[in-house]
Amino acid sequence: MFSNLIPAAKDPILSQSLACQQDARANKLDLGVGVYRNEQGVTPVLQSVKRAEERLLNTQESKGYVGLAGCERFNSAMIELLLGENSSRSRAIAVQTPGASGALRLLADVIAMANPSAKIWMSDLSYANHAPIMKTAGLEVAYYPYFDPQTKMVNETGMLATLSTLGKNDVVLLHGCCHNPTGADLSYRAWQSITEMANAQGFLPFIDMAYQGFGDGMEEDAAGFRYLAERVPSYLVASSCSKNFGLYRERTGLAVIASDTLQQSECIKSRIMECARSSYTMPPDHGASIVRIILEDQALKEFWLTEVTQMRQRIQGVRSSLVDAMQIQTGTHQFDFIAQHKGMFSIIGASADQVMRLREQFGVYLVDGGRINLAGLKESDVPFLASALSEVMAS
Ligand code: LMR
Repeated sequence: MFSNLIPAAKDPILSQSLACQQDARANKLDLGVGVYRNEQGVTPVLQSVKRAEERLLNTQESKGYVGLAGCERFNSAMIELLLGENSSRSRAIAVQTPGASGALRLLADVIAMANPSAKIWMSDLSYANHAPIMKTAGLEVAYYPYFDPQTKMVNETGMLATLSTLGKNDVVLLHGCCHNPTGADLSYRAWQSITEMANAQGFLPFIDMAYQGFGDGMEEDAAGFRYLAERVPSYLVASSCSKNFGLYRERTGLAVIASDTLQQSECIKSRIMECARSSYTMPPDHGASIVRIILEDQALKEFWLTEVTQMRQRIQGVRSSLVDAMQIQTGTHQFDFIAQHKGMFSIIGASADQVMRLREQFGVYLVDGGRINLAGLKESDVPFLASALSEVMAS
């Protein structure tokens, strides 16, 4: 049966962490997979999560099945977090999913079911798992210009020029905030232009919102998306609780569908639940219960928001420390862009060779393509990283 099978290629992100774990050097740095670590180098369980778990332990009376769409109270609370008072809430409904990857896959499945010839456009560069998920769902993948390697910012002119050629058969995958892997986010003006184009040309916006709260704030990070959501007839969102609730292993995510009418959204939801049934049936409950408890309790929600603010501020602090250290090391402002990037990641412009040298010579693990996870870096490791980067990237 399996004799023709060859082993899978290594995952470009997860394999870096494994390689780092096996590295015996004491001063190695795992800046690969996107997980937040505190100044002690630990990915903490948030205190708000601990409190919610305690409440859950004391009150949960059943481990019976919840349902194909997961917990509807979680779904509503998450829609509110994403959309605020946005008018599209009246036609937006959701399905709880195993992480945002689960949401991306289910939404891709339902696009392929509705229109097998749909083409999905993603940013060049994009999250390493976007293309595999879309292709496995049977969708054709294409790329719009996004990251400008010279400025390290978004090439909005190039992006909008490509989007201006798209039409009804196209789906445009956008990062809601904290672009992965580049850290370069769209301006509000670009969100407005994309909205106008979606309306005039009929393409479907599909938003991956994996880092809400890690850029400028919970509301601020959703502003561009909310502008679009209010104005386009249909959109999809895959949202994650991995980062902002620190629930990585609990696989807690959400697929949101907003179509012209609530009835149409309900129809799409039923097809998503059908896809879920034929793969994993129901999403895991624990993470979603924690999120529901936090979001339904105003005081606990406020406390959680302060924890997200602390994580965000630590990342911003690390960004500016690295910029300062690189200015000292290189005597230039070449790396100042790191402070302008948002969220966990930046693409620093290292070649494949330089990424390899960082790994072999210094035990510094980045994702191929030069993505660095600033959220995994301690202030105390900044000088070491800066000297490794300047040595490798100067030559
Ligand atoms: C990442 O990009 O590192 C994270 O989103 C983790 C993942 O699943 O790849």
